[in-house]
Amino acid sequence: MKMGSSNCNLEVGGLCKTLLVFCMVLYFVFVALFNQYPNCPASEFFSPFWKTSLSNSISNDSKTNLSHLVFGLVGSEKAWHHRKTYIESWWRPNTTRGFLFLDKEPTAGLLPWSGASPPYKVSDDLTKFLDKTDVTAQRIAHGVKEAFREDHENLRWLIMGDDDSIFFLDNIVGVLAKLDHTKYYYLGGQSEFIFSNYWYSFSQGFGGGGFMLSAPLAKALAKDMENCLKRYAHLKAADLTAMSCIADIGVSLSPLKGIHQMDLRGDVSGFLSSHPQFPLMSLHHFDIVEPIFPSMDRAESTRHLMKAAEVDQSRMMQQTICHNRLSNWTFSISWGYSAHIYERIMPRSYLQYPIETFKTWGRSPRPPHYMFNTRRPSNDPCEAPHLFFFESIEKTPKNEIFTSFSRAWPRGLLACSSTGNHSAESISKINVFSPAAKHSDIGRSECCDIVGIDETKVDVKFRECMTDEIIA
Ligand SMILES: *[C@@H]1O[C@H](CO)[C@@H](O)[C@H](O)[C@H]1NC(C)=O
Ligand SMILES: *[C@@H]1O[C@H](CO)[C@@H](O)[C@H](O)[C@H]1NC(C)=O
Ligand SMILES: *[C@@H]1O[C@H](CO)[C@@H](O)[C@H](O)[C@H]1NC(C)=O
Ligand SMILES: *[C@@H]1O[C@H](CO)[C@@H](O)[C@H](O)[C@H]1NC(C)=O
Ligand SMILES: *[C@@H]1O[C@H](CO)[C@@H](O)[C@H](O)[C@H]1NC(C)=O
Repeated sequence: MKMGSSNCNLEVGGLCKTLLVFCMVLYFVFVALFNQYPNCPASEFFSPFWKTSLSNSISNDSKTNLSHLVFGLVGSEKAWHHRKTYIESWWRPNTTRGFLFLDKEPTAGLLPWSGASPPYKVSDDLTKFLDKTDVTAQRIAHGVKEAFREDHENLRWLIMGDDDSIFFLDNIVGVLAKLDHTKYYYLGGQSEFIFSNYWYSFSQGFGGGGFMLSAPLAKALAKDMENCLKRYAHLKAADLTAMSCIADIGVSLSPLKGIHQMDLRGDVSGFLSSHPQFPLMSLHHFDIVEPIFPSMDRAESTRHLMKAAEVDQSRMMQQTICHNRLSNWTFSISWGYSAHIYERIMPRSYLQYPIETFKTWGRSPRPPHYMFNTRRPSNDPCEAPHLFFFESIEKTPKNEIFTSFSRAWPRGLLACSSTGNHSAESISKINVFSPAAKHSDIGRSECCDIVGIDETKVDVKFRECMTDEIIA
């Protein structure tokens, strides 16, 4: 399945086509049947049919919002002591529905239980049921049933995640609101690391990035859970177990490009600076990758990123590119996260590939390592960017959002000579102005203009691209 409004429209378009053909057939049947009653025009027969069919097939309830989502987060008591910062960075107490499932009762250090954390439950004990001692995989898969059991009134989507998964709630709601929750959907993310998909399954949603089940699927899965755990008791991986159970219900994974298992190691800034064109829905493995902002630790980095996410998730980590012909510079901005200046004109087709600042999740002797193309890091002054990271955000009186990006460190290379020796070394700040209105998901990135430039700073303004604008 492909996502995004344009594709949903396509889906509706396809539906319309089917309906049209169906209606035309009906029309001719009616014409044939009723041509002895010329006072009764056939068009009146099918127009009510047309209306009711459409409103029945496209859900006519109120739009999906956060109150329709229930989260099931599965973690361990031991890890929660330091992982709770990750969850508390996005959890909205008394608003987000759901539970944290722990392997055992929290110890004194976690009590009294923080009001900023999701309420906790202790997972069902499956050791007797499965007659084995290590039931970790099954415990996590069983979380689907336990979350559904605890709270399913007006539930439209059940979202399963780990205790170190960071979710972007507004974007998740936005994506899910485009889908019909009365149908069967299994949404999730594949691993970034090709081998993980190969070893586990290309067909599974990796649980750290989170997977999402529409209400009828969550219900069916909860109902079959015990039987399924027996069928797949030999499996040692929770996500594979969940996928197997879901597959047996007759539902396959629809991978989404905004869900990130983050099976990468080291410095993931290259990856996050060229995020695919899709709303950012989740990030995982913050415990393992290096802090995503230089000079901040993991917890600080998480909270810092959320400052931008609280203001505008629609642009979060969406890549916007513009050029300054006077200096032959290219700007690539990953909104709310990073900004790059390159000293030559580079097209979007090239910049969409992440710079491989990161390392593989596991051993991978030769490429391809990743589920996407990459650019190799370079010391060529015409290739290596000047790096800036998100510093602050505020709303302006002019109904704009102002985000500033400050230089991470001096690039320490000469200027790119083939494009005129225009060094960007003196630039220490990039100021980005974006509209207060959310970026409407029209299947196209935004464009930007350099509206001010001096020795030390550059002002960049975001706008919709012009109809025939080319970013190259
Ligand atoms: C569906 O929505 C439309 C517009 O919001 C409303 O006029 C109509 O009555 C609704 N139909 C049903 C069956 O709820
Ligand atoms: C979410 O939708 C429900 C109806 O399903 C509605 O009652 C509720 O007010 C909505 N909540 C928000 C925050 O819009
Ligand atoms: C959540 O609700 C509880 C009880 O209704 C209340 O005591 C608590 O202060 C609320 N927490 C927040 C963060 O609003
Ligand atoms: C930009 O670079 C091109 C070569 O790619 C060069 O011919 C041109 O003179 C440069 N423009 C400026 C303003 O330096
Ligand atoms: C750029 O500077 C280098 C040395 O600093 C010089 O060799 C080269 O000719 C210069 N290129 C341009 C286009 O000015």
